[in-house]
Amino acid sequence: MKVIEIEGNRELTGQIRISGAKNATVALIPAAILTDEEATICNVPEITDTDALCDILKELNVNVNRSTESLVINPKDMKNIEIQEEFSKKLRASYYFMGALLGKYKKAVMYFPGGCSIGARPIDLHLKGFEALGATVTNDKNKYIVEAKELKGANIYLDIASVGATINIMLAAVRAKGKTVIDNAAKEPEIVNVATFLNNMGAKITGAGTSTIKIEGVDHLHKCFHEVIPDRIEAGTYLIIAALCGKDLRIDNVIPEHIDSLTSKLEEMGIKLDIGIDYVRVLEVPEKLKATDIKTAVYPGFATDLQQPFTVLLTQAEGISKVTETIWENRFMHVPYLNALGADITVENQTAKIQGPRELIGCEVVATDLRAGAAMVAAGLKAKGKTTITNSEHILRGYESIIEKLTNVGAKITLKEI
Ligand code: UD1
Repeated sequence: MKVIEIEGNRELTGQIRISGAKNATVALIPAAILTDEEATICNVPEITDTDALCDILKELNVNVNRSTESLVINPKDMKNIEIQEEFSKKLRASYYFMGALLGKYKKAVMYFPGGCSIGARPIDLHLKGFEALGATVTNDKNKYIVEAKELKGANIYLDIASVGATINIMLAAVRAKGKTVIDNAAKEPEIVNVATFLNNMGAKITGAGTSTIKIEGVDHLHKCFHEVIPDRIEAGTYLIIAALCGKDLRIDNVIPEHIDSLTSKLEEMGIKLDIGIDYVRVLEVPEKLKATDIKTAVYPGFATDLQQPFTVLLTQAEGISKVTETIWENRFMHVPYLNALGADITVENQTAKIQGPRELIGCEVVATDLRAGAAMVAAGLKAKGKTTITNSEHILRGYESIIEKLTNVGAKITLKEI
């Protein structure tokens, strides 16, 4: 097990550079198999989710070459074999191989994906989308067989604007016959990044980033070069850390527009920010932070993935703040550990009530999932004394070089294997 130890309550100064977006990368890697030619993707983060997807590529006999920050994927000798559970369960995004394999070979066989336990996380909308394109889905316990004689464009309305379903249907539809329209599509920036990648390969996708995506099927996709956008969740996490313990801490390589919902909330709490073209810097944090309420929502609303780290900041605000989680039904597992550190938080239904300010004192806590883990790091950096975070492998799934990045700005943080 990986354990992170933090000696907290230190001022953090300097710059933190944001890596490529995890949630774009995990879709771009499976998307790359849709061609038979080479795809070069740069700004790929070194996180364990990237490694897990490259392991799947290798299983499928795809040539993968990794150099600093870039990934060259060549599927010319690829074999469409069943993706075993030991590979699919390592992360949720393994499900993008379903759409990509279906799009390329008209057949995908794989086991139910893994990922953070933050809710039931069904994939019914993905499967309904594949069926609308002409596929049949057979499912035996955890194994899914999705196949089609021919994939034909269709009009698909998503009951929920799901990120995963939007991308997976796009992957299956790019090489289908005719036109596909996805209505009530999710609008997250990672979807735009994936659509740009596919278009660079010769796909005809319009409307990504709006709630209606149109895809004109093409027969062939070709080689391409692509860059992953900066990770808005990593940027948001470090910005929250800057608000908690920063002194002139600048977060670089950010698309500020992607984190508008967070920066507006920070300003509402009384924090002064310097928002540049590609950076955000915390200029001043008032003695008394104002309490505020947030409700998670699909993009451009407040990102559910930032809810847990943001809750840590709310423990330092004067009065009662409320956090309502509307996307995932099980995303308050960080709360008991924040309370162990000294916070005063109660959860009723899908709302956490945070009474602040409270002094945080280090103790042993658990990273129950990726973003809960990020919340523990943020809390540990603020807390007095030593915080020990067990199950920290969750954190390494999504934060590239987190130990180095924080050490470079003055944190006392180490990673151990026990
Ligand atoms: C993606 C992100 C995740 C983020 C989430 C919401 C990746 C790899 N992960 O997850 O970090 O928290 O978006 O912004 O990009 N749903 C169904 N049926 C489906 C699919 C989804 O009911 O077939 C529901 C889910 O249970 C959830 C909601 O729709 O309540 C949103 O899920 P979705 O947008 O699909 O999340 P993911 O793509 O899994």
